[in-house]
Amino acid sequence: MSFPINRMRRLRRTEILRNMFRETELSVNDLIYPMFVRPGKKVKNEIKSMPGNYQFSIDMLVKECEEAFKLGIPAIMLFGIPAQKDEKGSQAYAKNGIIPKALRAVKKEIPDLILIADVCMCEYTSHGHCGIVAGGYVNNDKTLKFLSKASVVYADAGADIIAPSDMMDGRVGVIRKALDLNGFINTPIMAYSAKFCSAFYGPFREAAQSTPRFGDRKSYQMDPANSREALREIELDIEEGADIVMVKPALAYLDIISKAKIKFSAPIAAYNVSGEFSMVKAAAKMGWIDEETVSREILTSIKRAGADLILTYFAKDIAKKMKGKNKS
Ligand code: PBG
Repeated sequence: MSFPINRMRRLRRTEILRNMFRETELSVNDLIYPMFVRPGKKVKNEIKSMPGNYQFSIDMLVKECEEAFKLGIPAIMLFGIPAQKDEKGSQAYAKNGIIPKALRAVKKEIPDLILIADVCMCEYTSHGHCGIVAGGYVNNDKTLKFLSKASVVYADAGADIIAPSDMMDGRVGVIRKALDLNGFINTPIMAYSAKFCSAFYGPFREAAQSTPRFGDRKSYQMDPANSREALREIELDIEEGADIVMVKPALAYLDIISKAKIKFSAPIAAYNVSGEFSMVKAAAKMGWIDEETVSREILTSIKRAGADLILTYFAKDIAKKMKGKNKS
């Protein structure tokens, strides 16, 4: 039956009606706030390409975490910028490296905030690749040992969730085994499962100082053209013991999120990455779009596509707006 019997506008007539029939509602509980920590004291360096985001020293990071938690944000994702880098990325798994130190400090002050530790080598290696390089190639199996070492060190320092982002084959299984052997049976793994080789990571590489010195990441991150391969990656990670699987980036990959949601029952996280954030900021600064409406629209779309959790640099801004709304 069609028009004039059916009129879609009937249920859109007033704001109350629209509120009643809204299918997807963004919640502060969906948000994970990514943050960068570096050595030093009282450091809060704004990342030029990511306005409102900073490289924090640990003391300042703790303050920022307090603020985020007060706004209702349940979890943060932590990235480290080490004092020195070397071939083997040894600061990634050093017991007194920047991440374990930061985890201990934040856990002590805000024990209920969920701390997710990104596990990767690229911020820690002198060549900027996500693993051990041998003969110009990132060696998969040699890298696994270091990833599992870092995971255990982070769990021991207070990480609530371990998030490997390196894209080596077999890392989830190896990390699960290492965590269990060391007594961390209840520490979940959030796997960056379908991580594409994306130019949307540009601003992050400035923030984390992790641009590869030679070549690119195409031999380990996924080809943006592939969708069935993404589902295989997710399937393998679930088989290896991933508790949460991630699709990254989010906005140009909503189809992957949607397919993964239909095919798998594991919780899905989506990473609204640095480039997606910076595009909105830049266009808003030019006065071409409205930042608040656009960022909300984007995050709602990511959730509508099927994401249960969204990692986003907009987390604080959105949480502030939600809090204001609840009060009124
Ligand atoms: C590390 C890592 C990257 C991001 C998260 N973890 C960069 C990369 O793979 O080069 C990107 C996040 C963002 O762009 O916001 N492997």
